[in-house]
Amino acid sequence: MGRPSTGLRQKPKNNPMLAVDFPEDLKPFLAPAPGGDMGYDCLACGARHAPDQLLYTCPACGGLLMLTDRKIGRLRDKPGSFWRRLFDHRLMLNLQAVRGVFTFHEFLAPNVPLADIVYLGEGHTPVVAAPPVLAKTVGAPFFVKMEGQNPSASFKDRGMAAALSMLNHLVRVKNMGQVIAVCASTGDTSAAAALYASSLGSAVKSAVLLPQGRVTPQQLSQPLGAGAAVFELPGVFDDSMKVVERLSERYQVALLNSKNPWRVLGQESYAYEVAQQFDYSLRDKVLVVPVGNAGNVTAILSGLLKFHRASVTDGLPKIVAVQSTRANPVFLYYRQPEGRRSYSPVEVRPSVAQAAMIGDPVSFPRLAALSAAYEQEAGPSSFFVVEVDETSIMEGMLLANRHGLTVCTQGGECMAGLKAALREGLITPSETPVLDSTAHALKFVDFQNAYFEGRLKNEYGVLTRPELANQPRSLDLGPAPTPAGGRSLSPEERELFVSAAAERIAKALGLAGKE
Ligand code: F0G
Repeated sequence: MGRPSTGLRQKPKNNPMLAVDFPEDLKPFLAPAPGGDMGYDCLACGARHAPDQLLYTCPACGGLLMLTDRKIGRLRDKPGSFWRRLFDHRLMLNLQAVRGVFTFHEFLAPNVPLADIVYLGEGHTPVVAAPPVLAKTVGAPFFVKMEGQNPSASFKDRGMAAALSMLNHLVRVKNMGQVIAVCASTGDTSAAAALYASSLGSAVKSAVLLPQGRVTPQQLSQPLGAGAAVFELPGVFDDSMKVVERLSERYQVALLNSKNPWRVLGQESYAYEVAQQFDYSLRDKVLVVPVGNAGNVTAILSGLLKFHRASVTDGLPKIVAVQSTRANPVFLYYRQPEGRRSYSPVEVRPSVAQAAMIGDPVSFPRLAALSAAYEQEAGPSSFFVVEVDETSIMEGMLLANRHGLTVCTQGGECMAGLKAALREGLITPSETPVLDSTAHALKFVDFQNAYFEGRLKNEYGVLTRPELANQPRSLDLGPAPTPAGGRSLSPEERELFVSAAAERIAKALGLAGKE
């Protein structure tokens, strides 16, 4: 393509261009009209179903569904350079509907009219270069895409923006009355589902099913704050998922798990943004992605293939999918020799990468189909799965967050996966890894604090390394008066307190005095 790399392309903070100032040839395309020929394809029996209904499994055989655009070939009528210019210009357009994941409307869900798009500020998360000291410690320069900067602080907002936009569309055109939207979750899908549903007022009411004690307090607070009905169930995520599947089979509900294929379309935007942020040159990149229910990695593969087939990007990146040894069905599948692989769910054990603690990923059949297609187009060594242990996940997160980043435990899983892939020689020095930090560190802060306090040993088998631990320090202020308990101090007492505290802090930090 010969485009010189100008460094990372990030979304401008302001909108420097008015629509009249855009290039003439792009003006008719800036605000896209509905198009394409979307439909549900069954992965098991191949049946095709119309898109204007809520389907999660094939009505003919019960198989898993993918959404495809039968007119996707039309995207090839324009050269890749056209799409690149259009998407880059859209970043400067002050039109809410195409400011988030629908910047890539034509590739994502082209049937959704702009008027129905739900935008809450998702997408266009920054890609940050690991600070040099971190890169040196890890053994290679790399980048991190900060998905925790989405509205509900995880990548799930991408999928919800697409699913709720489609639902909003159906509610309007089909006069559906109030819809009850349900999902099971390890904490982030529920936060995103509740947030996006709440933006639609009484049209959509959300209900979330959570495995009791396996969701962090911060994640639990999110659907509660958004006004969702929250149910805590015994067991792990896989148990809650089965209950939600039963609800969607027997009752009138909208399912918001990634079994809902509109969610997968929204999550493809991660791939489109990475492409854009690296000037559409992906040949030498390695995307490192944590895997739980396998919706994210599936969406990324699908998005990469779509951009590649329409010549928007130059080459396909290598993919390194990462799982914990305590929730590793995808790793165990791909470890078997090609052609003789068989899939079995696993019983999960407690993992600090709790959001990905899933033993029977719902999107597994999609992943198996897409990884095969991907390897065919990108070459035989383009898709790998590595497994990492709990200690390396925790230490990966802590290391990143001691160097200017704010990654969650799943981001820590990516850090551990990067190290494992480097160790195993899966990444060459000429390649650039890009890690997916899927949520914000603050959602998982209890794991950090438990590590610092040495409480992760029994359940997770993680021992605290003292040099990584950090705790608040209190000061012995001796006889000095203090404002403890709200006591008010006289000016003389305050002076004694301030000088006693300052002296002890200076001593603890080894501060040199001023001349
Ligand atoms: N990282 C985070 C922060 C997650 O919340 C999840 C999944 C994953 C990684 C794994 O992604 O499932 O697409 O393979 N969380 C789901 C949930 C299952 O309910 O929030 P995946």
